[in-house]
Amino acid sequence: ALPRDLEGRRVVISAGGTREALDPVRYLGNRSSGKQGYALARVAAQRGADVTLVAGHTADLADPAGVRVVRIGSAVELRDAMHAESPSADAVVMAAAVADFRPLGLSPSKIKKGDREPAPIRLAVNPDILVELVKARPSGQIVVGFAAETGDETGDVLHHGRAKLARKGVDLLVVNAVGDGLAFEMEDNAGWLLSAEGDERPIPHGSKARLAATLWDAVVPLLGT
Ligand code: C5P
Repeated sequence: ALPRDLEGRRVVISAGGTREALDPVRYLGNRSSGKQGYALARVAAQRGADVTLVAGHTADLADPAGVRVVRIGSAVELRDAMHAESPSADAVVMAAAVADFRPLGLSPSKIKKGDREPAPIRLAVNPDILVELVKARPSGQIVVGFAAETGDETGDVLHHGRAKLARKGVDLLVVNAVGDGLAFEMEDNAGWLLSAEGDERPIPHGSKARLAATLWDAVVPLLGT
């Protein structure tokens, strides 16, 4: 049986990818399936947590049992939902793949092919939601980020991960090596779990549910009474 060590705790988890509209029918998106975030929500609920899942675009995933699901489209909508949901949370996990940029100036009508050179797409920078959530957090709240890093060597991936942990100010960072059949759209995941206290634990190759259990195991001791 799973431990009920998240009973009485409220957790907010983001999952899936954002879609940044170009016009009423087109968007810039990414390949996030949402599977890792959904696994985190499912496992947290099984361990007794009150779970809110803020879900962007995902593969065709069923809502996890006993979890409240809030749907969002763009990064700006995700930001608003996270700021609305997170103040009363004991732990916040940003597993969503957030677009770093959004098209500047949404076209109100479908962009036409025309017969001239295509117009360049101008982009604006999206807010870093994780950094904002760390700044806004109530005392005692645990904030967790994910980082998908490419690197030829484990050392590169870890190096980027450590820098990101510090830059974002999170308590825990899950670092996944991506590229070449790793992480995105896959059933399995592997990587490293880094903590602000300097712990670095390898996460062995395994299911996304397994990784979720490993992450909650690391969060529980950080939660206050
Ligand atoms: O900087 P990078 O995109 O690699 O950071 C990944 C982490 O930051 C993830 O936890 C992701 O959900 C979060 N993120 C965010 N807002 C952004 C970009 C990433 O919250 N604009």
